[in-house]
Amino acid sequence: MSILLTGGLGYIGSHTAVELLEDGREIVIIDNLSNSNIEVKDKIEKIVTDKYAKNMKVVVGDVRDEKLLEQIFSENDITAVVHFAGLKAVGESVEKPLEYYDNNINSTTSLLKVMKKFGVKNFVFSSSATVYGRAKSMPIYEDFEIGATNPYGRTKLFIEQILQDIYVSDKTYNIAILRYFNPIGAHDSGLIGEDPNGIPNNLLPYVAKVATGKLEVLSVFGDDYDTKDGTGVRDYIHVVDLAKGHLSALKKLEENCGLKIYNLGTGVGYSVLDIVEAYNKVCGGKVKYKFAPRRPGDIDVCYANADKAFKEMGWKAERDLENMCMTSWKFENNK
Ligand code: NAD
Ligand code: WQD
Repeated sequence: MSILLTGGLGYIGSHTAVELLEDGREIVIIDNLSNSNIEVKDKIEKIVTDKYAKNMKVVVGDVRDEKLLEQIFSENDITAVVHFAGLKAVGESVEKPLEYYDNNINSTTSLLKVMKKFGVKNFVFSSSATVYGRAKSMPIYEDFEIGATNPYGRTKLFIEQILQDIYVSDKTYNIAILRYFNPIGAHDSGLIGEDPNGIPNNLLPYVAKVATGKLEVLSVFGDDYDTKDGTGVRDYIHVVDLAKGHLSALKKLEENCGLKIYNLGTGVGYSVLDIVEAYNKVCGGKVKYKFAPRRPGDIDVCYANADKAFKEMGWKAERDLENMCMTSWKFENNK
């Protein structure tokens, strides 16, 4: 019995691979390396040691390639799929919407078609807090209205809708839609973490590069939001906590739970300046910053209510901001 992880060599997928292997599961990863590196395979093997490393197969290829998927499903006893593969940069999605619709939507429909052919009905999907758009109040609950503000977010919305339609057509599916808040941090080993190509768009990878001197100064986008210090507030969650959330979701699917939607966040909001302060504590004050205009499309505050995931799956985030910054810093120095 194997679990297929699409995009399993990426940031969240690789941490989830470690958690599943250490739980004694067999996994197959498919990744086209468009935003990852084959060396991540060796790093996962090193973390989990030989005892579990033998339970992982890696296929380099595209999830839109249905022939390849059919080969994977016929050669392995796949019982569930965790679908991470996708493009995820909001700004890029505005410039290249077709690439986002093609990659994110078509990979999902290809996967679902092949799953149907092989009678596999357990599916975990990487959705995002971005589907809440500008929520009317905080914290955000799963039953809040959803609506996207950019092509990336719309791919997540459409896929959520596709999954709802599939479930309506066949109630024997078990589907977990996981809406991640802001994943940061790295594995304790310092071997895997977030390693974007070029200049990072997201806060933590940018902060990490300023701390190592690869970038000069962090621009803090906006100092006049309606928050405690005027800077944007987000629900940052440790990537290892998030990875464990996938194991909990897979266990939930094994109970034949039907379609479920869960927020995966901590329920706590931190400002950009909180992050700078916490990072400076672990790196020795190397993060210089300056204030810059607001980034178009940004919202002031976003944090989850994650009680449903705790009540129904027994999952909650355990790690604090210091650990998120410490592991990120360890990974950054290990690269
Ligand atoms: P990532 O880019 O590190 O990982 C995605 C992986 O998928 C990469 O290894 C990439 O090479 C692979 N991939 C992309 N398209 C593919 C395709 N067509 N076929 C095969 N492989 C393909 O991103 P991540 O941060 O690990 O995110 C994983 C998922 O979680 C994505 O769907 C993303 O939209 C979602 N998500 C991420 C965040 C975040 O802030 N990181 C937040 C919410 C949701
Ligand atoms: C966080 C805060 C910025 C960079 C994005 C996607 C979302 C999800 C997670 C995938 C904000 C501020 C940032 C910088 C800054 N991804 N900032 N200087 O925008 O909350 O969410 O990633 O689903 O869909 O939109 O994350 O890390 O970009 O920004 O001041 O150089 O840091 O303004 O307040 P965001 P982020």
